[in-house]
Order: sequence, then C-alpha cells, then structure tokens
Amino acid sequence: MAVLSKFNQKVVLVGDGAVGSAYAFALMQQGLAEELVIVDVVKERTEGDALDLEDAQAFTAPKVVRSGDYSDAKDADLVVITAGAPQKPGETRLDLVNKNLKILSSIVKPIVDSGFDGIFVVAANPVDILTYATWKFSGFPKEKVIGSGTSLDTSRLRVALGKKFNVDPRNVEAYILGEHGDSEFAAYAEATIGSKPLLTIAKEQGVSDDELATIEDETRHKAYEIINRKGATYYGVATALMRITRAILRDENAVLPVGAALNGEYGLDDIFIGTPAIINADGLAGVIEIPLSDSEKDQMAKSAETLKQVTKDGLA
Ligand code: LAC
Repeated sequence: MAVLSKFNQKVVLVGDGAVGSAYAFALMQQGLAEELVIVDVVKERTEGDALDLEDAQAFTAPKVVRSGDYSDAKDADLVVITAGAPQKPGETRLDLVNKNLKILSSIVKPIVDSGFDGIFVVAANPVDILTYATWKFSGFPKEKVIGSGTSLDTSRLRVALGKKFNVDPRNVEAYILGEHGDSEFAAYAEATIGSKPLLTIAKEQGVSDDELATIEDETRHKAYEIINRKGATYYGVATALMRITRAILRDENAVLPVGAALNGEYGLDDIFIGTPAIINADGLAGVIEIPLSDSEKDQMAKSAETLKQVTKDGLA
C-alpha cells in the first residue's frame, strides 16, 4: 500500500470505458494522484483495470489504484466523469444528450451524498451540457465544476497549425472556443506563435485565409475521422483530462482551454462553454476572455445559442 501523501491527492474516476481507461493510464504514467479509485457499473472491468495498471508500478511509482464505488468520493480531491454512451459513426455529440443526461443524474447524486466537496471534471458528451447539468444536479459552486470543453479541440488545432508553420504545437498560442462540437471555432484574430500574431506570420509565409479555414474545419471534424476509422476517440481527450487534473492536484493556476462557467464574459452567462481559464486546486480561478473579431463574436453567440437551446430541451 503506497504511503498516501499528506495532501491526499485522491482521484475518483467514474466510467471505465475507453476514455476512462486511457485517462487512468495517463495518470499512472505521469505519477499524478496518490490514490486512483475506478468506478463503473461493470465492477469486474474496474477490478481488472486496477490490477493491470498496478503491474506498471515497478517502472513508474507505487500508487494506490483500485476498484471502488461512489462512497470513495467522500475524501477525493476530484471526481472525473467519463461515463456515458460515446458517439457512433454519423452521430453528433448533441445526439447523445438525453441518454447521457440520464446516466449523469444517476452518478452525481450518490457522489454528492458521499460528502464529496472537491472538484468535478466532466468529459462525457455533449460535454458542455453535461457540465452544466453536473453543476445543476450537484448544487456545487460553478467554480468547482469544470468540463473538458475545447481542451482537446485546441490541442488538435495547435498540432495542425504546428505542422503548417513547422513549429512545436506547444508554442502555438491559438484556441478553439465555443461548444465542444460542430459549432466550435478557431479564435485566429488573437492567435500568436512566439508572441507574434499568427495572421501576420501567415501573410509572411503565404498561408491563405482559406488554408486557415480548412485547418479550422478539419479540427472541428477530426473526431468523426477517428471514429469512422477506429470506432472511438480516447487518447487525445484522456491526455487533456490528465492535464486538467495536474493543474488541480498541483494547484498550478494553469491557463487551459476548458468548459468554464461564464458570468458575462463574451456577453454570456448561465452557460458552460469552451474558453481559456485559470485552473488551480480550487477549480476555476478565473476566465480569460479572448478579444474576438466581429465574425468570431458571431460564432461564439451562435455556439452559445445552440448549447442553451439543447440544454433547455434536455433539462426540461
Ligand atoms: C472527441 C470526443 C472526445 O472530440 O468528443 O474526440
């Protein structure tokens, strides 16, 4: 049994499907959390995954990784929810709203009843709506409910732009904003590479607006390309969840694109939507509102309207 750090560093993962399992693996590889409890309706799966993950520890670090249940959330620092039906080929994320809201409602209440008072991190789709629903179902302060939002989409955009401009994607400061879904968009107006405006570099290198629009569109549709080939996506989103987890467990005040609660930013409120935000041990420490061009403002408004409508219908 690993000696638990005095800071506890305990994560409860709810949902041990492809995304959950990849996330658990990422946590172990990164040495994050002293204790990882895996919860799923298929108990045998969680027991098998815990035993399998344990086998890596002679090469990584001794951690407690075990199968558990909702009561384990009582002293957890964060609960990560990946449980839900994934998209099938041809399905949009919004198509999953009714079935995954039902699953979510059966998860959040027992977690809250356990006495949990940490941070919720939500990844099941449609993630912005399920993040909003987690806030509603839990009664937690908005700052303690975070969605994976456009973290994965932003990574996809940065990788594509890194290839186009031949730079390390970690040095591309560009964001996908809005819904984690078909109405998301790239905020190119303020994007930079090495603090130089990306649009200036594009002009200098003869990269046209159409080429940038194509990269944005390919980012928006990348999940479908993956799902059509391998049936699901999981490594990208699991790594995004690991990065958000690290910011919380290490109290980093990291600026990350997440699904965050807005209170007037971008002219929006009563919504969780993809934007850069400051993440630390208390959850959401602040939203960074990127200045948008007029067309980007329209895209953000449209994306928010889509989410609000589906949320209203789904929670009616
Ligand atoms: C994707 C899923 C996680 O975008 O929504 O790959």
